[in-house]
Amino acid sequence: MSDKKASNQMWGGRFASGPAAIMEAINASIGFDRKLYAQDIRGSVAHSQMLAHTGIISSEDQLKIEDGLNTILREIEDGRFEFSTRLEDIHMNIEARLAELIGPAAGRLHTARSRNDQVAVDFRLWVKDEFHRVAAALKGLIAAFLERAEEHAGTVMPGFTHLQTAQPVTFGHHCMAYVEMFSRDLSRVTDAIERMNESPLGAAALAGTGFPIDRQMTAEKLGFREPTRNSLDSVSDRDYALEFLSVAAISATHLSRLAEEIVIWSTPQFGFVRLSDSFSTGSSIMPQKKNPDAAELVRAKTGRVTGHLVGLLTVMKGLPLTYSKDMQEDKEAVFDAAETLDLMLAAMTGMVGDMQINDQAMKKAAGSGYSTATDLADWLVRVLGIPFREAHHVTGRAVALAEEKKVGLEKLTLDDLRSIHDGITDDIFSVLSVQNSVKSRTSFGGTAPAEVRKQIRYWKKRLAKA
Ligand code: ARG
Repeated sequence: MSDKKASNQMWGGRFASGPAAIMEAINASIGFDRKLYAQDIRGSVAHSQMLAHTGIISSEDQLKIEDGLNTILREIEDGRFEFSTRLEDIHMNIEARLAELIGPAAGRLHTARSRNDQVAVDFRLWVKDEFHRVAAALKGLIAAFLERAEEHAGTVMPGFTHLQTAQPVTFGHHCMAYVEMFSRDLSRVTDAIERMNESPLGAAALAGTGFPIDRQMTAEKLGFREPTRNSLDSVSDRDYALEFLSVAAISATHLSRLAEEIVIWSTPQFGFVRLSDSFSTGSSIMPQKKNPDAAELVRAKTGRVTGHLVGLLTVMKGLPLTYSKDMQEDKEAVFDAAETLDLMLAAMTGMVGDMQINDQAMKKAAGSGYSTATDLADWLVRVLGIPFREAHHVTGRAVALAEEKKVGLEKLTLDDLRSIHDGITDDIFSVLSVQNSVKSRTSFGGTAPAEVRKQIRYWKKRLAKA
């Protein structure tokens, strides 16, 4: 089976081929970096135009190069391009094909450039495009939440701490919490784009070049704000990839928390939401079941995204300046995290827009667990002027009595309440309903429906400008 002659006796046992083939297998990145073909061609076209503009190559050669590159672009897009592992990566695959197509002029394209600045510019262009895709997807998710929030600004539900019923809130308010979270993600994307919006092209291998290149021109042609300012840093920096993965990991974590809530809410025990058939599956043996698979998978895929962040941080952490081949490992992490995050955002946006809200179940749960106990205590402070600590104590006794009588706080009689504190009057019942409790929380950012509507208006206006 294994070719003993070609494969090393000591360590080649598991490999059917010799060292050259093993080297090729570990070294090649064409299997994944072919994804950068469009960016690679864009970068090369801009570079060639700059070389002609500065007189480093002739206009005739430049035209041949640009034509050839455009032909290659079509070949790749039509699936007619033959990628070769022997040619290692996307850069050399394209250059070799260019030589086949246009002959010796192809050899002039790599003047004043190295694969080090080439891969750096290609990957930046790709990550920047992906940042824009994520921004658009986040905006879609936020819009879905704003719509649900508007619809449910007055729908009461229990608010939780420790997953124990704490105080009544509205579902609209809960949706708006996610608007805040995903808007922060969006602003992280915007910040990251701003920081990475510099072109490393022209840093060459690491030290710059003696050719009279115009880095401003290539930066502009490629849509970057300006060229990077240090050639060493230009070829060794992968911060933009790390930032993408950080943003992705944080956003995935938010999506995972939401997924977890959907999993809980859609249980028959909670019954707060009903997922549409498009985002759930049935059980092959238990006909009553409707499983929140999409939410569970969103929750699970967060592990992959975070794993990629930790993976690339670990790749980078011991690298001396400038380029090391280790950095080739940046791409699969980013590609997979991007694909995963795009899918997670799409699935969540679908689920949020689609899920049916069970107002009745939410309202019923909102009233359980003595959720208006704080309102009772606040009433004692406000109306009777009792210090909050004492009011807390009095309320605790009211809760204990209600527990003993197996009723809600609002079902205690006035006599019951007066047996605990004789200052209590009929008026207290006005704060014991969940509806009134929610309505009373009018502090800035609070759960009162009027306040929630105010925040919805704020975000709508702000996002229309973004
Ligand atoms: N495929 C390589 C990578 O992705 C391209 C850069 C190669 N540079 C070099 N000096 N070997 O990192």
